[in-house]
Amino acid sequence: MGLLTGDGLWTAGIFMAIFLLLVDLMHRRQRWTARYPPGPVPLPVLGNLLQINFQNMPAGFQKLRCRFGDLFSLQLAFEPVVVLNGPAALREVLVNYNEDTADRPPMHTVEHLGFGPHSQGVILAHYGPAWREQRRFSVSTLRHFGLGKTSLEQWVTEEAGCLCAVLTDYAGHPFSPNTLLDKAVCNVIASLLYARRFEYDDPRLIRLLDLLKDTLEEESGFLPMFLNVFPMFLRIPGLVDKVFSGKKAFMVTLDELVTEHKMTWDPDQPPRDLTDAFLAEVEKAKGNPESSFNDVNLRLVVSDLFTAGMVTTSTTLSWALLLMILHPDVQRCVQQEIDEVIGQVRHPEMADQARMPFTNAVIHEVQRFSDIVPFGVPHKTSRDIEVQGFLIPKGTILITNLSSALKDESTWEKPLQFHPEHFLDAQGRFVKPEAFMPFSAGRRACLGEPLARMELFLFFTCLLQRFSFSVPAGHPRPSDHGVFGALTTPSPYQLCAVPR
Ligand code: HEM
Repeated sequence: MGLLTGDGLWTAGIFMAIFLLLVDLMHRRQRWTARYPPGPVPLPVLGNLLQINFQNMPAGFQKLRCRFGDLFSLQLAFEPVVVLNGPAALREVLVNYNEDTADRPPMHTVEHLGFGPHSQGVILAHYGPAWREQRRFSVSTLRHFGLGKTSLEQWVTEEAGCLCAVLTDYAGHPFSPNTLLDKAVCNVIASLLYARRFEYDDPRLIRLLDLLKDTLEEESGFLPMFLNVFPMFLRIPGLVDKVFSGKKAFMVTLDELVTEHKMTWDPDQPPRDLTDAFLAEVEKAKGNPESSFNDVNLRLVVSDLFTAGMVTTSTTLSWALLLMILHPDVQRCVQQEIDEVIGQVRHPEMADQARMPFTNAVIHEVQRFSDIVPFGVPHKTSRDIEVQGFLIPKGTILITNLSSALKDESTWEKPLQFHPEHFLDAQGRFVKPEAFMPFSAGRRACLGEPLARMELFLFFTCLLQRFSFSVPAGHPRPSDHGVFGALTTPSPYQLCAVPR
């Protein structure tokens, strides 16, 4: 067969261009109804891809919201997208239409990890039986380990003790707390998944955290979004291995831990952890090809829980310490409440929370202010829905701008400032406005919220019971502006931890 040259190449090029324009036209037809949410004019084929500021999406979306309103539309190549802003629109879509908006858009970039009809993990799973089975399993396993002798509360308290011991070793010298917080939180999730913890200098723990960091960098920004909307590029030989090498290596490390685990698993004993419980379900499901309990899915579920459960909580704790050194008056009030309710001797317990409205308010305000997952995880409509007079057709991707609720001007007195009073009434009682939705809402709301709440309360109170945190002498006052990436992290900072 001869190669295309000269005229042939031109003809093929023109046909290709016409084909792409027709496909593009087909996809944007739905925008032509008068009731589709407005948005910036998309370019042919690329849509609005080049108009999105991937370096600072929250600011970019805020500008679009000012121009087009609470519901605005975008076109990401051929994919129609509607961005939901403000607590009212978010609740209406996520809660009132929970059933119709609980699907996820297809993520082609995860197919190389074994993503298939019966193995979809949890986070990116389509709204269907595989998701339902794994969500129910994860929630009930978390609940199971939240009770009883080997409870999550005990694991978290012990880990907080280990963290405090390391802080004591710093003897008041300046340090960056991020890696230590990552290690402590990682050990909690490792306890849940593998009934084990790692010493903080264990090379395996250090490697796991490095790979997790690589994974998050690989999965954020323009390239993964581009590859998801143009999946044909994923067929370029070697590209997936190169672009997602961190994720692959991370999964291999998790596989090793599961393999080791299997060697000590005794099906006749009660499950030691989530992996044991999953292996028992795999045994039960043998011969049922429809079940999502299989080895491929074990690695996806474990990886989802590990990733979602680790970085979110440790990033929030890092924000909490930063905000305490920036607001020493607030730190003192928390310590005063700890001293009154818990004292200096016994460990904090979850039962203390109800008697500590100020500390509770501070933790909620840390979450609101830090706004670490500004856009949640994308949803997709599985039916036409009508929201605030607009029509959102079936198959539209929904971006939930949770940040717009956490910074909503009509709810919060000082939306852009750290102000724990947002969560206290005139009598000093804890209150939680509906616009507080860092864990999202509806069917796909974060399933780890109870664990996250427990970790935030226990780690935070243990640390402040034992130490006073401050900006190191001679260091400039750190900024409270976040760095937008896979999560919104605090700008790098150091602190001193002085035993109380
Ligand atoms: C401060 C900590 C955390 C925050 C702010 C957070 C936030 C979120 C958000 C915004 C979502 C997306 C919800 C949606 O799609 O509408 C989510 C989903 C999820 N989170 Fe969390 N999360 C945290 C901690 C955790 C922990 C500790 C775990 C696990 C142990 C966890 C596991 C998950 C899972 C599995 C999903 C997917 C749920 C589904 O698709 O059905 N998260 N989280």
